[in-house]
Amino acid sequence: MPSQQPTENGLKPIVIVGAGHSGVAVAAGLRTRGWGGDILLLEGEKETPYERPPLSKELLKAGAPDESTVLRKVRFYEDKRIDRRAGLTVDAIDPAGRTVLLSDGSRQGYHRLVIATGSRARSLTVPGADLPGVQALRTRDDALELKRALVPGARVAIIGAGYIGLEVAAAASAKGCEVTVLEYQDRVMSRVTSEPVSRFFEQLHEQNGVRFVFGAAVTAIDGADRAERVVTANGTSYPADVVLAGIGVVPNQEIAADAGLECQDGILVDGDGRTSVPDIYATGDVTRFTSSIDGASQRLECIQNAMAQADRVAADITGQDAADTEIPWFWTVQHGVRLQTAGVRHPADEVIVRGAPADGRFSVVYVRDGRLAAVDTIAGLTDFRPAKKLIAQKARIDPLLAADPGTPLTDAVFTAA
Ligand code: NAI
Repeated sequence: MPSQQPTENGLKPIVIVGAGHSGVAVAAGLRTRGWGGDILLLEGEKETPYERPPLSKELLKAGAPDESTVLRKVRFYEDKRIDRRAGLTVDAIDPAGRTVLLSDGSRQGYHRLVIATGSRARSLTVPGADLPGVQALRTRDDALELKRALVPGARVAIIGAGYIGLEVAAAASAKGCEVTVLEYQDRVMSRVTSEPVSRFFEQLHEQNGVRFVFGAAVTAIDGADRAERVVTANGTSYPADVVLAGIGVVPNQEIAADAGLECQDGILVDGDGRTSVPDIYATGDVTRFTSSIDGASQRLECIQNAMAQADRVAADITGQDAADTEIPWFWTVQHGVRLQTAGVRHPADEVIVRGAPADGRFSVVYVRDGRLAAVDTIAGLTDFRPAKKLIAQKARIDPLLAADPGTPLTDAVFTAA
């Protein structure tokens, strides 16, 4: 690392907008890297920044404490002189004047601006979607509201069979709710995984009492003064006491787009988190960037990426080298079974199943142009670590060897040039 430190005395603060995983990690990373100037961390929510993964898992369990894990203790922010302002957001950015307009009407100058505004739950827009009893799950308050509604016997209709929908389906069925999942694709988790994995998880859910309706186009939520039924395009009604929409996320890019930063379903950033406008960075769910692995344009919704980009931003601001970026990875737990994924699968990838799904433990290898692109591991992590390494090396894979679960993944690599 270069020893030269920038001189921070007299500079305006580094303003970080958003205190999710990425925003907090930028603030922490700046201090770790020796930044001595002021850091202002703005957050719309009033609480101490917290972890989101437990919101759709542990927090919903019967008897689980309502406090979710904070990202950092309050003392951390004090000790590191990170000026955290809860409940304050940015309404507008003035890049020419290097100021932001805050939600309390004041203006704040910045030395560097870091946009870490994340994403929000995509809204259900059908008639009745605003009835009480219909909700999304993004914040801790959302999770606590849902938790109160998940009582034994409650009829729970979940719209969307992605990570949120399925994790909540597992939690709700474990609490004795009657769960119906309405998904407009023909299988679960189609955005992130292949058919064999989808089918495995469908069966797992069905064995736990969850009912699926695929190809479901929800047209309305009916009810007198609260949600009573979900109605689909073919006229079928599904009775519901609680309706959860888990239909994906939308990047919170509006303040950036309004200020003229280039955006395309995400704020465009380079490998150091720099946006198209000088001295403005973006990091985490809100960004879109080119994959260093395969050159694809991507917006990654995962903590690993939020942390890796945060490190790059902190490194760039302090003029230091960033840590090597890990391969993106993702995980979910449903009915106690863990799906952990290394790399980013594309729909056209060749799909190789290692092991038998009927055994309840297997992996799926994704090969693109002959090279290992991603691996899903189900109920076992044996292939996970080697997969991350091999994906980073762009290893060429022998499909026949890879299909044999008895052959370690590292031995399924072509060694010839
Ligand atoms: P998602 O993108 O994973 O899944 C959304 C699902 O809803 C898709 O299967 C899609 O086909 C379906 N869908 C979309 N519109 C629909 C409609 N009108 N009717 C029926 N189905 C519809 O998004 P999800 O599950 O909402 O998750 C939101 C965010 O939370 C993502 O960023 C996700 O990565 C994150 N998350 C991650 C977890 C994990 O990594 N374990 C756990 C929970 C959330």
